[in-house]
Amino acid sequence: MSETAVNKPFIDVLAGQRQSAPPVWMMRQAGRYLPEYREVRAKAGGFLDLCFNPEMAAEVTLQPIRRFGFDAAIIFSDILVIPHALGRSVRFEVGEGPRLDPLDTPEKIATLAGHADLTKLDAVFEALRRVRAELPKSTALIGFCGAPWTVATYMVAGQGTPDQAPARLLAYAQPEAFSRIIDALVESSIAYLLKQLEAGADALQIFDTWAGVLSPREFARWSAAPTRRIVEGVRNARPDAKIIGFPRGAGALLPGYVAETAVDAVSIDWTAEPSLVRERVQSKVAVQGNLDPLALMTGGAALDQAVDDVLASYAGGRHIFNLGHGILPETPIAHVEQMLKRVRAYKG
Ligand code: CP3
Repeated sequence: MSETAVNKPFIDVLAGQRQSAPPVWMMRQAGRYLPEYREVRAKAGGFLDLCFNPEMAAEVTLQPIRRFGFDAAIIFSDILVIPHALGRSVRFEVGEGPRLDPLDTPEKIATLAGHADLTKLDAVFEALRRVRAELPKSTALIGFCGAPWTVATYMVAGQGTPDQAPARLLAYAQPEAFSRIIDALVESSIAYLLKQLEAGADALQIFDTWAGVLSPREFARWSAAPTRRIVEGVRNARPDAKIIGFPRGAGALLPGYVAETAVDAVSIDWTAEPSLVRERVQSKVAVQGNLDPLALMTGGAALDQAVDDVLASYAGGRHIFNLGHGILPETPIAHVEQMLKRVRAYKG
């Protein structure tokens, strides 16, 4: 009883109840802009060593909560732990980002496992349990995965690319082979998200960082449809699961994405058009976002203006304040404090 007696404003918004000041957290809130993160990161060795050390992963997840009192913590991990659990080689080169063995021909794809070995991710579940035990009762805990499309773009190319052309080409030229990758990711992601809920996550976010490079037809097939299958698969076992989708760059495709996927909320980037989002998205689900991370990096009057614009656009409805993408490592901590003060002073 006492567990449920304390409100989590973040979860209340996902359940349909607007708050007078929007709950707030930041994508990539555990990260290099924090000196306490850099200290743990230096001790961990590689980036994946940090993700797979439950004590350290829990510690960096909690750091931004202690410092800023955000309404939600997001478990410290990465979307590329799923390819790792599928048996692919995943490495993070310092200053260069992820490197995987490219999965770029039907012959190679035929060897891909259909299901992830989730025992390889036991450390993530253990980190979730540790964070859950230490979080304030009013703070929500977010579990996550990458959307199949976005994870596939890294698996196919073996690294990030400016427009994810290798995966787009493979999807056009070899749709059956590409579907095998997507299917393995859908199945693995459902199982992974369910285990995160079991380990203490209150809500889930599906990151589709590269949704915006797809034509409308390809978006429907490779971004929205697989996301819908994940939402359905999770809700089959957990009908009450709260799920946020982040189809970055989807723009005018957002209303269709919401209708197709049945997510409880969408996270939007800073290029979204406010009246379209209000009338055709926020009228149906909660909206999360969408401060430009570069406005946060700038600070001063430009930051105040950008925060006020986000609040004026969305805080009148179901809104979770966030950035339009992850916070950048160069961002001064004082600017995060300035943003929070302004968001928390909002009364609507
Ligand atoms: O938001 C959080 O604080 C939780 C942790 C989190 C990370 N990655 C930690 C991370 C989350 C939710 C992610 C998701 C993720 N990972 C996405 C989707 C969201 C997005 O940002 O677009 C993607 C595309 C990835 C893949 C990935 N991981 C890339 C391209 C990189 C290199 C770029 C970079 O910022 O260095 C990573 C590495 C990564 N993941 C870091 C962090 C904190 C930086 C590595 C480090 O600290 O050494």
